[in-house]
Amino acid sequence: MDVRERVIVALDVASWELAEGLIGRLGPDLRWVKVGLELFSQAGPQAITRLKGAGLKVMVDLKLHDIPQTVSRATAQLASCGADAVTVHAQGGRPMLEAAVAAAHGQGTKVWAVTVLTSLDDQLWGEIGYQDSPETSVRRLARLARAAGCDGVVASGVEAKMVRQMAPEAFDIVTPGIRFSGDDPGDQRRTMDPAQALLAGATQLVIGRPITAAADPQARLRQAQEVGL
Ligand code: C5P
Repeated sequence: MDVRERVIVALDVASWELAEGLIGRLGPDLRWVKVGLELFSQAGPQAITRLKGAGLKVMVDLKLHDIPQTVSRATAQLASCGADAVTVHAQGGRPMLEAAVAAAHGQGTKVWAVTVLTSLDDQLWGEIGYQDSPETSVRRLARLARAAGCDGVVASGVEAKMVRQMAPEAFDIVTPGIRFSGDDPGDQRRTMDPAQALLAGATQLVIGRPITAAADPQARLRQAQEVGL
């Protein structure tokens, strides 16, 4: 894989105009971007088609979690806009995951299953009512996602090694919660720096604020793309 493809920049901004400005500041090495709830809520599916028109790969991170038919139809819509990957919650269950995969694969779109949000730690996970640790839950959900035909999982760097051990190379491990040393974790709990996450087996890193809020986003993007080179 081209090292530039390892980094997916989260365009967590309030408007299409701000997204465009940010893309300009990220420079020509940008390959992958992520449209999440904030930008999608303001700019809609047009954000996806415009980004594709600009030659970028697009992860649509709406973390779909609903009944199989609803998720299937929403996935088909996102795939037809040109999404390269969409996210669904693994906790939606196997029929929902299979429905998303069936809707996406015909259009060449990947399905990545979100396991346990990187903003949750042991205590917050337990508070929801889970008896298992986040790590044990990620293992269980990653197994489910694989069995349902998903292309990979979204998991923190803390679990990347464990997921890599149970899945072949072709199974994507997409890792958010990335922080360079000295960065503010903000609302993230299970964080890791880019080098450690890649070493643990992450195939792609999702990075928002550490790049987008940096004084020089282009330099930060390069730094993340060039880890280990
Ligand atoms: O700014 P920061 O690097 O923390 O942004 C991380 C991005 O990854 C956010 O857009 C967030 O929605 C997303 N994400 C996450 N944890 C997951 C899945 C996605 O933080 N499990």
